[in-house]
Amino acid sequence: MGRRWASRRLGLALALVVVVVVLAGRCDGGVTSSFVRKTGKTVDMPLDSDVFRVPSGDNAPQQVHITQGDRDGTAVTVSWVTCDEPGSSTVLYGTTKNKIEFFAEGKYTRYKFYNYTSGYIHHCTLRNLKHDTKYYYALGIGHTLRQFWFRTPPKVGPDVPYTFGLIGDLGQTFDSNRTLSHYESNPKAQAVLYVGDLSYADNHPIHDNVRWDTWGRFVERSVAYQPWIWAAGNHEIDFAPEIGENEPFKPYRHRYHVPYKASGSTSPFWYSIKRASAYIIVLSSYSAYGKYTPQYKWLEQELPKVNRRETPWLIVLVHSPWYNSYNYHYMEGETMRVMFEPWLVQYKVDVVFSGHVHAYERSYRISNVAYNIVNRKCTPVPDQSAPVYITIGDGGNVEGLANNMTEPQPSYSAYREASFGHAIFDIKNRTHAHYAWHRNQDGNAVAADSMWFYNRYWHPIDDSATSAA
Ligand SMILES: [Fe+2]
Repeated sequence: MGRRWASRRLGLALALVVVVVVLAGRCDGGVTSSFVRKTGKTVDMPLDSDVFRVPSGDNAPQQVHITQGDRDGTAVTVSWVTCDEPGSSTVLYGTTKNKIEFFAEGKYTRYKFYNYTSGYIHHCTLRNLKHDTKYYYALGIGHTLRQFWFRTPPKVGPDVPYTFGLIGDLGQTFDSNRTLSHYESNPKAQAVLYVGDLSYADNHPIHDNVRWDTWGRFVERSVAYQPWIWAAGNHEIDFAPEIGENEPFKPYRHRYHVPYKASGSTSPFWYSIKRASAYIIVLSSYSAYGKYTPQYKWLEQELPKVNRRETPWLIVLVHSPWYNSYNYHYMEGETMRVMFEPWLVQYKVDVVFSGHVHAYERSYRISNVAYNIVNRKCTPVPDQSAPVYITIGDGGNVEGLANNMTEPQPSYSAYREASFGHAIFDIKNRTHAHYAWHRNQDGNAVAADSMWFYNRYWHPIDDSATSAA
């Protein structure tokens, strides 16, 4: 009897040891970075900061920015603001510096927001441009002429190398300035995929729209020279019925034009473009996406149009992430995920970039599309047809870092870190793209997280082991 009790106790002890070992060694997810940073308060740069300086000269054009102006990159939309009087909406341009070969006529608009009246906001689309060509352009005819330049993308094709930057939730703090400078130090980046939340003007009393103007002047040094592809975030909504402002997205819609009609969209908040070897679909977290809504019907018709033999890289931008293991904006992207994720898996989207959460996270290729209410299959599972989900809402805005994470790290999360930064998606050819995330504390050659993407159409093998985090 005594020996039996002793052996039972021994068995219990062994079982306990096994449980402890299993728990201690449990590997739930990927890497939660141990990077140690100084967490100072993020504050907006004061209005008299040099980065907000108004350009000198009579009625000088300011807040100059460009974006793709059509479906395939042979048009560029130039936008700018004049403050004293409308002035000319004409853009002079050509392929030789200081020599005007062409001109295009634009239009201007303005808006009121409570006690604020905007400047004259000009938009002008330059069309029928040659591919892969440097163009000089000038604005401000009759007043102060300012000249800039841009380079058009190569003709759309399956093996065209192209380098995108990824920035989100930038705002206009000292950290935002570090992020933008860090991005600018990359000599290869050719265009920015911007995942929403621009100025954070709405964090100021009565949505002080002067902060839309300062943001426009702040980012001009990049976006006047290379296109930023816009996705709208919640800080673009500017819905403020308490001060009589009932028209959502009013400042954003007036200031930032996108070529949505070219992709058959009925709204600037969801659209697509082709650029080099990439097909970019922009979705709107803050527009209806339920069944039969315009966005749902558009995406349903859009995905079958993507020809991976022409544009191998299928990229989706959407502000609110569908996979997020931070304790911020928990489940906000869930209903949209439920509606659209099966399509993204079916059409083998390569990567989904989001913002909203002010931190960085990269997922493994996972999907969660098997659940049918009764089968209990509601956990993300590895899926080589699924995109990688990347949260890049770490531009540095005034709301600060999201540094509180769910524990343990979920199995779908490959790498997460609460630092400000930006990323680079560097397409090499139809099969390979190198992706790197750069935190602001590092030099520009340092990648805090990186991965080789294998294209889901041309090279759909497991690429999870290529991560260098
Ligand atoms: Fe957001």
